[in-house]
Amino acid sequence: MNDPRDLLRAYLRQRQELGEEELVLDRLSPSELHALLSNTPAPLAAAAAPAIDRSRPADRAPAAPPMDRVSEHAPAVERASAGLERVDAAPPPPFPGEPETHVRAGAPVPGTTDAPPSPRAPAAYVSAEEISSLPVLAQVREIALGCPRCGLANTRKHVVFGEGRETADVMVVGEAPGQEEDRSGRPFVGRAGKLLDLLLLSSGFSRDDVYICNVLKCRPPQNRNPQPDEVDACSPYLLRQVELVQPRVILAFGAFAAQTLLGTDITIGKLRGKTHKYRGVPLVPTYHPAACLRHPAWVRSVWEDLQRARDVLDAA
Ligand code: URA
Repeated sequence: MNDPRDLLRAYLRQRQELGEEELVLDRLSPSELHALLSNTPAPLAAAAAPAIDRSRPADRAPAAPPMDRVSEHAPAVERASAGLERVDAAPPPPFPGEPETHVRAGAPVPGTTDAPPSPRAPAAYVSAEEISSLPVLAQVREIALGCPRCGLANTRKHVVFGEGRETADVMVVGEAPGQEEDRSGRPFVGRAGKLLDLLLLSSGFSRDDVYICNVLKCRPPQNRNPQPDEVDACSPYLLRQVELVQPRVILAFGAFAAQTLLGTDITIGKLRGKTHKYRGVPLVPTYHPAACLRHPAWVRSVWEDLQRARDVLDAA
């Protein structure tokens, strides 16, 4: 068994045989996962990396990114191969022979200071300049929870600001909340989120140790693609999150996250496999976990990208 897909599948099957109907991977440490995946082949053995060093220099200064985006009018095939179809628009099939899995949406995340927010009516408009000068994440979040900056304010149930360790070395950036996230106010708690947790764990990253957010903080109706004006309106929050968390590495999951942060329309298939920079911070683009649920063969690529992120951290 030398394919990460087999290992991920074996893990999921084992949890099922243990009678678990809900997989709460937040609770599993990397070492527990590695024990489960005993007799790991070389690549996974390499994932048993030392814990992330949280002592960090204070000299990380970001610079402004362009916000160019990919045409949404490209042919469907081109868009799909570019990773531009909204990856969680419809429930993806499970891995062959695997059960449907889900999370306890709204379960507390160890190490996070973000409690699930209550729904709020849109509040007063706050400018990008004001957002960029807010000194702490709690204040940015407070403003975001009442955000009226785009039309999604009228359709969302919850603003999904982001959560996790506020001094994390690793920042995970996804696309936009889906249905589960909109319902719970937490990022990546649906099926894609469970796979994300598993991929992170299999590469030595615990969800407890990272900061997770999205390009958009509100769910686009029917999980349609984020619109350019929505990305522009929401970007000040993401920018400020990066500035305040000061990660050592950013993991950009999916085309929208990678292209928005890098200011490019290059496809995710071409962006991944290399380490880029966002305002001086190493950025590792990879496929979105929801895309992996549709294309299980991409799990290996994601896993390899996460190994590169590990290497970046270990070299820092
Ligand atoms: N997909 C994303 O990109 N983000 C989430 O939070 C959930 C699904």
